[in-house]
Amino acid sequence: METAYQQCLNPDCSATFSVSQVLTACDQCGSLLDIAYDWDSIAVPRSLAEFESRWAERLNPLNFSGVWRFRELLGFAPESQIVTIGEGQTLLQRNDQLAAHCGMTAGSLFLQYEGLNPSGSFKDNGMTAASTHARMTGASMTACASTGNTSASLAVYAAVSGLFRCIVFIGSGRIAFGKLSQALDYGARTIQIRGDFDDALARVRELCRQHPIYLCNSVNPFRLEGQKTIMLRVLEGLGWQVPDWIIVPGGNLGNCSAFGKAFSELHALSLIDRIPRLAVINAAGAETLSSFWNNDSLRWQSGRPDAAAIAQRFQEMDTRNERASTLASAIEINRPVNLIKALRALDTCDGVVRSVSDQQIVDCRARIAASGFGCEPASGASLAGLLQLRNEGVIGKSDRVVCILTGHELKDPDLTMAYHSADPHLHGKKLIPAGVHETPLANPPVVVDNDEQAILQALGLI
Ligand code: F0G
Repeated sequence: METAYQQCLNPDCSATFSVSQVLTACDQCGSLLDIAYDWDSIAVPRSLAEFESRWAERLNPLNFSGVWRFRELLGFAPESQIVTIGEGQTLLQRNDQLAAHCGMTAGSLFLQYEGLNPSGSFKDNGMTAASTHARMTGASMTACASTGNTSASLAVYAAVSGLFRCIVFIGSGRIAFGKLSQALDYGARTIQIRGDFDDALARVRELCRQHPIYLCNSVNPFRLEGQKTIMLRVLEGLGWQVPDWIIVPGGNLGNCSAFGKAFSELHALSLIDRIPRLAVINAAGAETLSSFWNNDSLRWQSGRPDAAAIAQRFQEMDTRNERASTLASAIEINRPVNLIKALRALDTCDGVVRSVSDQQIVDCRARIAASGFGCEPASGASLAGLLQLRNEGVIGKSDRVVCILTGHELKDPDLTMAYHSADPHLHGKKLIPAGVHETPLANPPVVVDNDEQAILQALGLI
């Protein structure tokens, strides 16, 4: 048996494939693929704390990387093939101000800042793994569809490594300029199709099936292997203690799927003694998972979720031309490709799903920024979800909670400025978007004459 192999998620198929093959779905039945390991042939440390010794050898780029210093837990690649740009130097910050706002005890709420990655979002955790597999399989051209962050991340890996050409597909809907400008700057060939993200992803999957182009969206199972390490760094930040809750925004559902896989493997390897609960938070305008989970009671069912119900729902959405719509453009996704894996993660982690309004998202984004580092709107959904789960009494006041902040504040400065400008028509342009009715945390610039008295007056000093 190979140390690592690809395996079909469908228990009635379970086909396996070599890691040397380029696939984004099972060849036999079309289901999603997982990366599986023969753990007995891998020298996995006996305790997670053993990984700390890698810090002392940081000059080795594999030890510097916050992904690859855990490499035994994603051992699909020869070390010589690993493509790393120093991703995963992110931090877990205790935030007592936000804890108080959520009616929680001091020391119980933590924020995991994935915006500190090289391209400014959590995507780099996965893109280092996908780029590594692309290199292993000799790819010369890589592609993705994106709401912005995946494209920025893929573009930076292609630019830094110089190994592949890179094409990114974006929809003609909302994409934050911070993200689009990155893809352009890093030299990605950027194709804007008429359609939204769901259309762009369907198109790029089709193109990659038919042409020698390596697909880097999260249907690529190697990408999710890298994203598992976000949870390892959370555990590390807590002194290897397992929190009670992980809260994460859900779009295409790759991240939550990777988290569930990480915990399932760590538990099976006896590296943790319990599994935290998982809360996946949708934006109300893109709440396919929430609707399946809460309204239709769709469940993993040991790998046999109700496929007919899923197909019928997507068919109805197509017939009605139902489109996602939220200010949190990163998660403006209605046909999440990792739906089945997300169901598995929710099963593994005794999870819950909630959806939150755009108003809650932008207020929470502003609140996070006002109490520490900032994040982009989609990440604000984590805190909005926490508030909702606290109000419902699902999360207790002393539960230890980690909210994942998936992208950097500077990804979407237009929305931040719109929120803070008191005048909705600043510069003659209506900035405050539909869906936001009030801006309680607005901190607009104060316009005064260039005069000491006027300035002191504005500052309330005279
Ligand atoms: N947060 C941010 C900042 C994102 O960019 C994304 C996804 C998510 C959350 C959702 O993560 O898809 O794993 O559930 N952005 C993708 C993109 C779709 O194209 O950049 P998910």
